[in-house]
Amino acid sequence: MNEQLQGATTQTASAQPLFNPLSPDFIRDPYPSYDKLRTHAPVLHLPALNGYLVSRNADAALVLRDKRFGKDYVTRITRRFGPEALNEPVYRAMGRWMLTQDPPDHTRLRGLVVKAFTARRVEDMRPKIQAIVDDSIDRVIGQGRMDLISDFAFRLPVIVICDMLGIPETDREIFFKRERTGGRLLDPVPLSRAEIDEANAAHANSEAYFQRLFDLRRREPGDDLTTQLVQAEEAGSKLSNEELTANIILLFGAGHETTVNLIGNALLALHRNPDQLELLKSNLSLMPNAIEEFLRYDSSVQLTYHVAMEDVEIGGVKIPQGDNVMCLLGSANHDPAVYPDHPDRLDITRPNVRPLSFGGGIHFCLGAQLARLEAEVALTTLLRRIPNLRIDDVENPKWRPTFVLRGLKELPASW
Ligand code: HEM
Repeated sequence: MNEQLQGATTQTASAQPLFNPLSPDFIRDPYPSYDKLRTHAPVLHLPALNGYLVSRNADAALVLRDKRFGKDYVTRITRRFGPEALNEPVYRAMGRWMLTQDPPDHTRLRGLVVKAFTARRVEDMRPKIQAIVDDSIDRVIGQGRMDLISDFAFRLPVIVICDMLGIPETDREIFFKRERTGGRLLDPVPLSRAEIDEANAAHANSEAYFQRLFDLRRREPGDDLTTQLVQAEEAGSKLSNEELTANIILLFGAGHETTVNLIGNALLALHRNPDQLELLKSNLSLMPNAIEEFLRYDSSVQLTYHVAMEDVEIGGVKIPQGDNVMCLLGSANHDPAVYPDHPDRLDITRPNVRPLSFGGGIHFCLGAQLARLEAEVALTTLLRRIPNLRIDDVENPKWRPTFVLRGLKELPASW
């Protein structure tokens, strides 16, 4: 039990920890805890985090969109982990992400890449996405079994983001083999010294790799985002080398860590709800609505970080300027105030599904359309080509030990 997270609630005198996000029970199924939070402490003060946890949909939507909440990364990290945290290379680099910036830096950095993610540019990628999915299935179909995570869900977003970033095919094997440990950095629970050292070392490796890629794209420009950003850096004043490296690493990570979990969590949810699986198989035109429901039902991103830019009151609780405000997206997506019809049930025909899984406001996910398209092609093709697929153990799958990024370690299946 992490005592720091037991925090006093602002609204109840309960001594029970309402939020213990890395406990195995919570990782397995956080939704019962979210119900309690929404009911008993919708704005939960966690003194140890200098922060507040916001779990109702209306409050979360407000925090995401209201200018009184921003990112103010330096304040957030300093108050959370102490000023020395900013000396760690990995935390310093995260502070250059567009995701952790406020305007005008945020506007400048996002503006440099936003065109690559428009609905039309994304739709143009459909044939390539289809070819990658078909190839993943061709590789395993004769074996009668696969791991739906490593053999299927993971390959697609990694190959797509490598293509977008101009990462040569010969370099990609390292990304398939790499241990995916970076997710811990996004959790609100402090990392041990050993974990920080490991994260710094992994970051140094990525940085060294991407500096080599920048050299390559300076010599051999391509039709890719790395070339585009390298040229912006050379033009001066548009972005620094630190910003270039940090944001390419952000795009690389954000481009796959989340989408693999959207596909994996959706497959688990469908197989736990055989009636919904059969309904979808028999009517694949339900897929776009089903994807919104998968995003809502078990979001691959559970929480976003913000800072009160001024004193502000939310849900009757006064939050002082500079304190952390965390939006529990997974909880907001199950709020009966917005989803009155059994929010904990998977219903692929649910009307008006508007999950907060991609965030909101100026930081609304840049890759939302891409993630939706990847999931649509992956799930449609799998249901068509292997209709008799069965997951080995739907009751006790192995979850990754992270909270903010919610997803499965593996999901063995056969047919
Ligand atoms: C931002 C979720 C896929 C790139 C965000 C945010 C969320 C999110 C919640 C806002 C975070 C905040 O405000 O703190 C997801 C989910 C995905 C997904 C659930 C898949 C299911 C992708 C993909 C890409 C991507 C495929 C890129 C190829 C980004 C970037 C930002 C972002 C660059 C920062 C935008 C900004 O700060 O303006 N995403 N994402 N995401 N996402 Fe995604």
